[in-house]
Amino acid sequence: MIEYPERITRARLPTPVEPMTRLSQQLGVQLLVKRDDLTGSALSGNKIRKLEFLFAEARAQGCDTVVTCGGEQSNHCRATAVAATQLGFQSYLLLRTDDPARPPATDANILLDKLVGAEVRWVSRDEYKRRAEIFPQVAELLRARGRKPYLIPEGGSNALGAWGYVKCVDELAHDLGREPATLVYAAGSGGTGAGLILGIKLLGLPWRAVGVNVCDDEAYFVAEIGKIVEDAIARWKLEVTFDRKEIELRDGYVGIGYAKSRPEELATLRDVARAEGIILDPVYTGKAFHGLKQELARDRETFGKRIVFLHTGGIYGLFPKAAEIAPLL
Ligand SMILES: Cc1ncc(COP(=O)(O)O)c(C=O)c1O
Repeated sequence: MIEYPERITRARLPTPVEPMTRLSQQLGVQLLVKRDDLTGSALSGNKIRKLEFLFAEARAQGCDTVVTCGGEQSNHCRATAVAATQLGFQSYLLLRTDDPARPPATDANILLDKLVGAEVRWVSRDEYKRRAEIFPQVAELLRARGRKPYLIPEGGSNALGAWGYVKCVDELAHDLGREPATLVYAAGSGGTGAGLILGIKLLGLPWRAVGVNVCDDEAYFVAEIGKIVEDAIARWKLEVTFDRKEIELRDGYVGIGYAKSRPEELATLRDVARAEGIILDPVYTGKAFHGLKQELARDRETFGKRIVFLHTGGIYGLFPKAAEIAPLL
């Protein structure tokens, strides 16, 4: 039995695991999908799992406003804003965009952020790189307004947030038993990967977690995931051993850049939708699935016989890409 830190409950858990019957046949492996796209509707995706732990800490500290950051169509920011409103918090989002003087249309995730009343501050790519300096300034500003801010890092990816994916492994072990399996996931800020690694270790499972990075590179994610796992082991004195060399990533599928799509990636997304009726997103799960397919084409045994693809959500990211996808339909 794993002893979890305190959490609030917002996500619809456990999410189902389903066979991908037709794609299993096509790809010659046993392929299952963990439906974390079903953690809620407006809350959908992987972020709410992490936020359950982060909001519990925010509440325990007597905070009333959450501050976080991400790209302009950030799923994490949207889930944070929705959860904040549901739990009686205010939310303040730093959203990265090319030109803050000309912010993007109020569309998809941005529409949801604003619908639930998040305060949005647009920041340039350069400012975003300096977010570690900007966060304390925002906290100061909010305190001056009489608020009590709680700061959540990009993607909710820190040691506390990672417990969300320990819990996901716990659910999977319950559904799938202990036979070998490889969990394949999209890596964006590292928290999901860190939680999966910790969960596998804490439950002593003969499983692997393999990330397909959708931005940056392998070295970046080994550092990010490694730090989160090490922080968690130190903070909760977890009785597991860990070496950064154990972190498995398949680099090479970022394509033309974060949140930018190539036709072949969108074609994979379409093919999954048509084979299984499962809708991936272009920024994370579509790219990760494309990577999974390419890796299997290279070596069908590379992930072993039983693969669980983590569908971490992101559906709203599909809509701003409609014009790019339409020619493929
Ligand atoms: C839909 C979706 N999948 C995967 C990820 C990646 O998860 P993580 O940031 O924990 O690496 C994110 C966010 O970054 C996401 O929004």
